[in-house]
Amino acid sequence: MQFFIDTASLSEIKEAYDMGVLDGVTTNPSLMAKENITGHDNITAHYKAICDLVDNNVSAEVIATDYDNILKEGKELAKIDDKIVVKVPMIKDGVKAIKAFSSEGIRTNCTLIFNAGQAMLAAKAGASYISPFLGRLDDISTDGLSLIGQIVLIFGNYGFETEVLAASIRHNMHLIQCAELGADVATCPLSVITGLLKHPLTDSGLEKFLADYKKGNA
Ligand code: G3P
Repeated sequence: MQFFIDTASLSEIKEAYDMGVLDGVTTNPSLMAKENITGHDNITAHYKAICDLVDNNVSAEVIATDYDNILKEGKELAKIDDKIVVKVPMIKDGVKAIKAFSSEGIRTNCTLIFNAGQAMLAAKAGASYISPFLGRLDDISTDGLSLIGQIVLIFGNYGFETEVLAASIRHNMHLIQCAELGADVATCPLSVITGLLKHPLTDSGLEKFLADYKKGNA
C-alpha cells in the first residue's frame, strides 16, 4: 500500500519524506487555508514547492464546479509540474471533466466519494484515483471501512485500473485496516504515519537493551 500525506504543510511533508516512506501528497482547499496559503499565485507557488519536496503524486484540487472552468483550472494545475494529480469533486461536471482529462493523459483524483456508485462513476470516467472519505462516514455513524472493502471488491470484479485512495483517515487502525482490505493508497496526517512507530514493548525493550549494554561496557 502506498502512503500519501494529507497536508499542505511543507515541514510535515519533508518529515515524512525524510523517513523514506512517502509516496505522495494530498491537499484540499481546507488544508491550504490551514497553512494560510491564499491567492492564485501563492497557491500555485505552494504546489510547486510541494512538488519539489517529493518524488511524485501531488493532488491539487480545482475550485471550479462547472465543466469549462474545471477543465481550464485542471490544465493550469497540471502544467505546474508532472507530479501534479488534478483533484476533482464528485459532481456531474466533475465526472465529465475526468473523462476529458483522462483522454488527454492528465491524472485525476476524484474526491468526496461517499458510496460505491460514486466510485464506479469516477472509475468509468477514467479517474486515476478515487478518494472515499472514511472518517467523515464514521462521523455520521456509517461504517467508512466497509465502503473501502466494497469498492476494492467491485474494482477487482471488473478490473478497473482506478486506484482506491482511502482518505479522511483519523488513526492508526484505520490505516492498518485499509491495508487489510486492499486499498491501493492511504492518505493520512503525519501523526498517523509516525504513530505506526509506537509500541510500549518497543520502548521498554530498547531501554533494557541500552541499559544492559551500558552495564557490560561500564
Ligand atoms: O484529503 C481529504 C480528506 O482526507 C479529509 O480528511 O479529516 O478532513 O475528514 P478529514
